[in-house]
Amino acid sequence: MDEQGMINGFGGAFIPEILRATFEELEDAFRAARNDPAFWREYKDLMANYSGRPTPLTFAENLSTHFGIAGIYIKREDLNHTGAHKANNVMGQGLLVKRMGKTRVIAETGAGQHGVATATMAAKFGFECTIYMGEVDVERQRPNVFWMERLGAEVVPVRRGTRILKDAINEAFRDWASHMDTTHYVLGTACGPHPFPEMVTYFQSIIGREARQQIIEQTGRLPDRVYACVGGGSNAMGIFSGFMDDPVELVGVEAGGKGLSTGRHASRLASNDASVGVAQGYKTYFLQNEDGQMRETHSVAAGLDYVGVSPILSHLKESGRVRFEAATDKAVLSAMETAIQKEGLIPALESAHAFARAFEEAPDLPPESVIVINQSGRGDKDIFTVADAFADPGWQQFIRKKAGEYHA
Ligand SMILES: Cc1ncc(COP(=O)(O)O)c(C=O)c1O
Repeated sequence: MDEQGMINGFGGAFIPEILRATFEELEDAFRAARNDPAFWREYKDLMANYSGRPTPLTFAENLSTHFGIAGIYIKREDLNHTGAHKANNVMGQGLLVKRMGKTRVIAETGAGQHGVATATMAAKFGFECTIYMGEVDVERQRPNVFWMERLGAEVVPVRRGTRILKDAINEAFRDWASHMDTTHYVLGTACGPHPFPEMVTYFQSIIGREARQQIIEQTGRLPDRVYACVGGGSNAMGIFSGFMDDPVELVGVEAGGKGLSTGRHASRLASNDASVGVAQGYKTYFLQNEDGQMRETHSVAAGLDYVGVSPILSHLKESGRVRFEAATDKAVLSAMETAIQKEGLIPALESAHAFARAFEEAPDLPPESVIVINQSGRGDKDIFTVADAFADPGWQQFIRKKAGEYHA
């Protein structure tokens, strides 16, 4: 990215004047940390001893046999503390907050994973914490709301707009503009104004650095393809950055929702429904109408249900370095079931998008092929959505009984 945080015309920092000094302070802190070899060592040490890194690269033997290729390998970001790759970014930004001497953090969250990770970091570092979450997401991700509150965070349900992730981001920016002196906004993905896309990618690059080394150690070669789901794009940028200069095909999988032809999806780069625009402080492909109004998005996975996408991924789409595909809700639930039953892995609904596309393509690959799928998070948080989708009678009975007890 250039000095202004632009890459091939995408990105930048389209922010109100009042926030300019705060962004400059953040950029200076990030640059200084990045140029300080002790900082990456401190970060790696924190991730090793607090979050359990390096996460394993698991050979999925049963899935490999089932789909008839030599190797399906799963990068296990679900095994991070708090259950997703979000910890990588949050802990890194937490170290920067300490360097900047601020005392309060705020964040937006969709699936709740980033909110839980931020509340965890705040508890560990002793920061005050406020999390903005769309009201719709508060309803569908209640267990994560519960944990954020137990961790000491204030969770603010956002009732404006369509009450999902983009509305939570707007609200977080509003808060930041009035509390800049004390507060840092821990943006959860590789989106937003510069330096966030670059900074979040930097922290998430730990996934790709490890995965590249691990696949070579385990197979003696590079993989043919790497699959990652794409919401804002942070887990995808994280794993892809390890293979960017290698002859490896990179596949980003977006939320196909009810199907691209229905318009009810959140696919910016794999569909023809998005166009380039400026919103939320940066320039990228957005799902917007002709007047620049953001469109409603849909996905079974709250963490992929977003109108914009990382400006770096928009560039990688236009340069042809990354191929973008979409997986429908239906294909995702089926892939999740296959991963659970054949391999004992429980991917988050977001991650299951990467599994779905990999499973669709694997049977057409040459038998000696090796692929890597990024399991960005674990599926425990999705129990309500998945139990509904499978109409699980035992679960329904349990909920009815529990509701009855609360009534009494
Ligand atoms: C488990 C998991 N994977 C993926 C995502 C999507 O985010 P990103 O595209 O930034 O990796 C989320 C977002 O909440 C998530 O919780």
